[in-house]
Amino acid sequence: MNKSLLIADATVEVKSPNQVFFCPEESQFYAQCLEKMVFSQGPTPEPIIEFGAGDGSPVIQALLSSSFQGLVQGYELNPDAHQLAQRRIEQYGLTPYYQVKNACFFDHTPATARYLIANPPYLPAPDNQLYMPSLHGGNDGAAITNQLLAHGCEQVMVMISAYSNPVDTVNYAIQLGYEVVDFMVTPLKFGYYSCEPKVRDSIARLKRQRQAFFSERIYFLAGVLFRQKSTSTTCLSEEFLKVMTAL
Ligand SMILES: C[S@@+](CC[C@H](N)C(=O)[O-])C[C@H]1O[C@@H](n2cnc3c(N)ncnc32)[C@H](O)[C@@H]1O
Repeated sequence: MNKSLLIADATVEVKSPNQVFFCPEESQFYAQCLEKMVFSQGPTPEPIIEFGAGDGSPVIQALLSSSFQGLVQGYELNPDAHQLAQRRIEQYGLTPYYQVKNACFFDHTPATARYLIANPPYLPAPDNQLYMPSLHGGNDGAAITNQLLAHGCEQVMVMISAYSNPVDTVNYAIQLGYEVVDFMVTPLKFGYYSCEPKVRDSIARLKRQRQAFFSERIYFLAGVLFRQKSTSTTCLSEEFLKVMTAL
């Protein structure tokens, strides 16, 4: 596998942040979470499925930084993002390890999939009339995350924002039989998408309802590894919520 680091690619056409998700800090953190918590476990017996591959850069970066030899099957709704992902995967010679379909995850994933990864849409807003409608996560931001947890995979590594009702999400996961077995947290500044007035208003409303946690300038973003409960693992759900509700 080509081990060179993923760097800005001058041959790839630049897209506006309203066309293709663009938040390098967040995508890089998602890549680190994949490398440290998912790919470090070694190859899985079945493909890992990915909701919302975007331009493909997080999985590509994590593959290049690890010795993972399994297959990631991504799904991306947005044709522009899918095209970028496709081109990058070919450029890095990663086709045997990463494939992305231009399709809705929920319509096309096999019901038997066991391993799921996602940096899902988590913007809370009353409707999806946003800079990027496909980043809408329902009224509290957690709707897609909860739908992904309900998909029934054995293991799910999903990015969770502290302003998108993390407590109810973890409690929902526990109800579904999951436990938190690992997590990584980073502080992020509010960016282009989260500063959109409609989103800021929703986040402020959620804070009053104790469903969003943030300070004036930062919020926490976590990569959370959920696994179906077994007797042999240490459950970190409480520790995780302590960190996510600290601001
Ligand atoms: C927050 S972005 C993350 C992109 C990329 N994984 C990253 O971290 O840079 C979420 C992505 O999910 C895609 N998406 C939204 N709904 C989808 C669906 N139903 N099926 C597949 N992709 C979807 C969006 O188009 C967007 O590219």
